Amino acid sequence: MTSAAIRLEHLSVLFSGKPVIDDISLVIASGGPTFLLGRSGSGKTTLLRAINRLNECFPDCETRGKMSVQLGGEWVDAYGRDIPAETLRRRVGMVFQNPNVLPLSITRNISMPLEATLSLCTSENQDRIEQVLRDVHLWDEVKNRLSSPAATLSGGQQQRLCLARTLALQPEILLLDEPTASLDFKAARQIEDLLLELKARYTLVVVSHSLSQAHRLAEHVHVLHEGSRIETLPPDVFKDREALFAAMGELI
Ligand SMILES: Nc1ncnc2c1ncn2[C@@H]1O[C@H](COP(=O)(O)OP(=O)(O)O)[C@@H](O)[C@H]1O
Ligand SMILES: [Mg+2]
Repeated sequence: MTSAAIRLEHLSVLFSGKPVIDDISLVIASGGPTFLLGRSGSGKTTLLRAINRLNECFPDCETRGKMSVQLGGEWVDAYGRDIPAETLRRRVGMVFQNPNVLPLSITRNISMPLEATLSLCTSENQDRIEQVLRDVHLWDEVKNRLSSPAATLSGGQQQRLCLARTLALQPEILLLDEPTASLDFKAARQIEDLLLELKARYTLVVVSHSLSQAHRLAEHVHVLHEGSRIETLPPDVFKDREALFAAMGELI
């Protein structure tokens, strides 16, 4: 039986007092990938950001309800006193729609967040940088240009670097917000293949606008309706391409 990794109980997220997520309850399975689908503007990004408390970076945002995450084999009350927000964000990593590389070298993109959060010595850092670049199949492409600016990489390489940067912090849960939306077909497929490899080691929660992608990759699918209702699709719907497109045509 699949175990749970994230539990939302009556979660609401309000911007300037207006609810964007309104009383949502949901259990997200460990492993995955779990896909979150829904119309543009339905609150998918906001829901994802609620899981690692990133919405708190907006001063006019208020979160109500309860969110628990399974970390290190224990349930942690994400909005309680169990865990500081910075620690939660390291253990629940996030990759965004547009590759947000830092204006630094390829190596520094990984080592700077590492130094800022974990006090590792230089050699430990070097080992970890190589390992995560190998994990995202970028090592062979960049090993001779590690000091080059990250901005000189292609879009797909930059997105894999962002993934490597997140993995270097050794998260347990990975949130991915439309991670292939800005990439061409080949680069998108590379990220998809990576997700299939990473699902054995991390709980993956993926927001996607692509039904085909959800059909190919998802183990669980939830559909968010205007922030106020979440519907779980049965596997016989999302594992059958035609059934998924038919169901979503009616749903969103
Ligand atoms: N930081 C913010 N401040 C104010 N409103 C926001 C903010 N982020 C999102 N919203 C609003 O919340 C709603 C849902 O947005 P979002 O979560 O980005 O939807 P989706 O990812 O499904 O497209 C939108 O109406 C959007 O304008
Ligand atoms: Mg979004």
